[in-house]
Amino acid sequence: MKLLVTGGAGFIGSNFIRHILSRRGYQVVNFDLLTYAGNLRNLAGLGAGDDYHFIRGDIASRQQVAGALDPGIDAIVHFAAESHVDRSILDASAFVRTNVLGTQNLLEAARRNGVSRFIHVSTDEVYGSLPGGGEFTEDSPLAPNSPYAASKAAADLLARAYHRTYGLGVVTTRCGNNYGPYQFPEKLIPLMVSNALDDEPLPLYGDGLYTRDWIHVLDHCRALEAILLKGREGAVYNIGAHGERTNLEVARRILGILGKSEDLISFVADRPAHDRRYAVDSSRLRLELGWSPRISFEEGLDETVRWYRDHPQWVDGVRSGDYRHYYRMVYGNRDRTLSSL
Ligand code: NAD
Ligand code: DAU
Repeated sequence: MKLLVTGGAGFIGSNFIRHILSRRGYQVVNFDLLTYAGNLRNLAGLGAGDDYHFIRGDIASRQQVAGALDPGIDAIVHFAAESHVDRSILDASAFVRTNVLGTQNLLEAARRNGVSRFIHVSTDEVYGSLPGGGEFTEDSPLAPNSPYAASKAAADLLARAYHRTYGLGVVTTRCGNNYGPYQFPEKLIPLMVSNALDDEPLPLYGDGLYTRDWIHVLDHCRALEAILLKGREGAVYNIGAHGERTNLEVARRILGILGKSEDLISFVADRPAHDRRYAVDSSRLRLELGWSPRISFEEGLDETVRWYRDHPQWVDGVRSGDYRHYYRMVYGNRDRTLSSL
């Protein structure tokens, strides 16, 4: 099966490409713009001999997408996105361009070129914040709170409309928070690990009691493979591993694994419109496709923390230059940054 994977140089996309190429019978074209989040070092070691080919391009460019969509493509697995909530709060325009216009451009190209399957990788953040108990099902209303989540919800609706209107073979997935190797350290877990390794403060927003539903990236990739092969066209599948933890619990556990003091934890100004809680019901995926997660949060976090500790060159490479600038903007004087919004 020949796949066009968009955003394959990012965190989940690169893990997905490594996973799928370890299975038999796949060829991958990785189409990625290489924004600040795209990093070909995430795919080091892969080459043409591995049924792998890279094209640098923008999903929002009609010409560039047309150039990548050769007639042999059987399916598109669409990861490419602006993915970080805090960046969307600073400036939403790139989010609308890539996540909304880029997705529409890709859907249109798929339809015109007769691509039979389109896996649209979305997020549980489109559902908004969960009060109290319960979990998001695929029927929960869309209530996005950040510009990032709103742009993803818009893309989900376009994907739905392309299925309903043109019969495009779209399947949409909504996963909880991923963690694992190759994640850009603007996200909670790699940020906390890399700061702790340098004995720098671990900035927790608000009271630190916000919860996220964590899943190891390889469990997400295995779910996507099952959905690619057997998911129902037009359906939405939630993906979750019952990994709910508060951010404070996560920070404490990272410090424990590294043998560092909890004094490094620093409570800072909250994120505007910060969703209090996410939790995902993935029984549709489990019952229909037989998927279940294999990696417990404790085991996965342990291994992930060790991965960052053991790959200092990768960490240093992504924390240079632009990252330092971003870090100063968001954390330099967090109260002032937020009050000036
Ligand atoms: P990421 O930020 O690590 O990677 C995004 C990739 O997309 C990068 O390689 C970047 O270069 C590429 N890209 C950005 N704009 C592009 C454009 N215009 N054209 C082509 N490529 C472009 O993101 P991630 O965390 O790997 O997330 C991948 C997808 O999964 C996103 O759609 C995200 O919404 C979704 N998702 C992420 C999580 C999570 O916890 N990280 C959870 C659920 C869903
Ligand atoms: O739920 C899926 C989503 O998970 C994906 O769609 C997004 O692409 C991905 O970025 C992630 O969004 P979050 O906003 O949940 O992830 P983030 O790592 O930014 O934050 C996780 C939690 O940690 C959240 O409650 C905010 C908090 N946080 C985050 C950072 C970066 C802190 O307390 N301090 C921090 O420095």
